[in-house]
Amino acid sequence: MSRKALIAANWKMYKTPAEAKAFIEAFLPLVAAHDRDEIAVFPSPVLLPGVVESLKGSAVAVGAQNIYFAEEGAFTGETSVLQLKAVGGTHTLIGHSERRQYFGETDEIVNKKLHTALKHGIVPVVCIGEVLEEREVGETADVLKRQLAGALAGITAEAAAPIVIAYEPVWAIGTGRTATPEMAVEAHKIIRAEAARLLNAEIAANMRILYGGSVKVDNCNSLIGQEEIDGALVGGASLKAESFAAIVKY
Ligand code: PGA
Repeated sequence: MSRKALIAANWKMYKTPAEAKAFIEAFLPLVAAHDRDEIAVFPSPVLLPGVVESLKGSAVAVGAQNIYFAEEGAFTGETSVLQLKAVGGTHTLIGHSERRQYFGETDEIVNKKLHTALKHGIVPVVCIGEVLEEREVGETADVLKRQLAGALAGITAEAAAPIVIAYEPVWAIGTGRTATPEMAVEAHKIIRAEAARLLNAEIAANMRILYGGSVKVDNCNSLIGQEEIDGALVGGASLKAESFAAIVKY
């Protein structure tokens, strides 16, 4: 199996343009010789042009944390896929749990955004994961299957190849509580099997499934080192160049 890992930085609503520039100046030399994995950073929309500019000539990709499903229009406060592309963004997160929790994103909205990203050749990183109560009552598998089926509705196997899934147990995000490698591997297997059922076996076998939720320098190896785990979506530990570079080199 040759799935190239993707190590992704979700900066959330952090960093000014100057801080982003300083990060990149410190980060690039640390990963200059590193081509084993793909690297992507996901800054806030106002940072996107500057980050693309600072990363020019490097292999680090840039993505949005969110796009709207319409291509343009009277949607105050939203970012369109066309705007993302025009400034050089190539990836987008879709359905991050903070979007679901604080901004009311449903599986249906996630699905519409996924269609839009694929239509425009943007690599979508679709985030799914259970909340603590769901895990505690044994509903994790059902939640993952429901969110995956919701996201993939109407998407053909042919169109699905670029899709990356991020398994992010909500109880592990920003809490310092990490899923054990065994828990993550079990969830990833459920997701891959469901992707095979919904799309086809080949697409599922090639689909990258990242783990996210309190990934840090000291736990990244035990997680990303698993055959089933094809990279990481890193929040807090991606804000400092040294720690994100160390995770990239897990
Ligand atoms: P965290 O965030 O690494 O700070 O837990 C991960 C995420 O929200 O993608």
